[in-house]
Amino acid sequence: MYPKSSHRPILTEADITDEALFDGRRKFLKLGAAMAVSTASVMELAAKEFLPPPNLEYERDRNPQKLELNTYEQITSYNNFYEFTTDKKGVKPLAQNFRSDPWTLTIDGLVEKPFELDARDLVDTFPLEERIYRFRCVEGWSMVVPWIGFELSHLIKRAKPLAKAKYVRFETLVDPKQFPDQARGPFATLDYPYVEGLRMDEAMHPLTLMAVGLYGHTLPPQNGAPIRLVVPWKYGFKGIKSIVRISFTESQPLNTWQAYAPREYGFYANVNPDVDHPRWSQKRERVLGHFFKQETLMFNGYDKEVAHLYKGMDLRKFF
Ligand code: MTE
Repeated sequence: MYPKSSHRPILTEADITDEALFDGRRKFLKLGAAMAVSTASVMELAAKEFLPPPNLEYERDRNPQKLELNTYEQITSYNNFYEFTTDKKGVKPLAQNFRSDPWTLTIDGLVEKPFELDARDLVDTFPLEERIYRFRCVEGWSMVVPWIGFELSHLIKRAKPLAKAKYVRFETLVDPKQFPDQARGPFATLDYPYVEGLRMDEAMHPLTLMAVGLYGHTLPPQNGAPIRLVVPWKYGFKGIKSIVRISFTESQPLNTWQAYAPREYGFYANVNPDVDHPRWSQKRERVLGHFFKQETLMFNGYDKEVAHLYKGMDLRKFF
């Protein structure tokens, strides 16, 4: 991805490699004696460190595929959230005083009747579930996150979109007092608000989640408090954070990264190892905290569930 001001890549593949190696080494050092234990149990052990006390009630994901979770520390200390900064390790310290309560979410556009609600009401209205999902960033790193949330389809049903509504558009908060990059005015890295969109059938898909927590606890600000989108078969940039508006539209929304670099980022952004980013391969990925890269899976491993949504589409053209 590019910062607007300098047109330089923020992170090259080499940076990601060094970063992951560094994290990996540090973990091995810290866990010293645990080295003999299998990687899986080392990860589980580490996952139990630094957990905030749980404050959400939810149905647990039984993790049938036995995905190996990344630690709370990894998930919450290495973030993309440009409204704060483009420095992945700098987001967390800058986000500590972010206010996300009260938080008004507006539902409008092509619906029977537009309405507003507080994010807290959503947590009370819909039963929460844990969803352990693979998360693949377009930059070539990945992780496994135990999100907590509810299906976006529940909210859409409540919103009662009109038949004309073909897409869902999402917007992040604009508040220069809270987001340092927005306070930079014309020198901001991106044009705000950050915008994302989904086709209606993608939005209604049972895997598409509105996340309000992770690891049993409400989302920390750096991960998109109080509510964000998670679409596990798409690149991470589709997972818009700190959402304040959800609008139903007839035409395809122009998402932030497509507007910014249309040759590099599309609307669909489905994880696809066969379609390279113009500047790097998407065949492999480095899981945060791991030494070796692993193969990237078609639709991030969710092909059985979602491939039918794109039947007959040229995935090189609709990238
Ligand atoms: N949402 C907003 N509002 N601003 C952002 O900069 N970055 C996106 C996405 N959502 C971003 C955002 C990108 S590029 C990624 S990879 C994920 O958030 C990162 O989510 P995480 O920090 O929880 O891992």
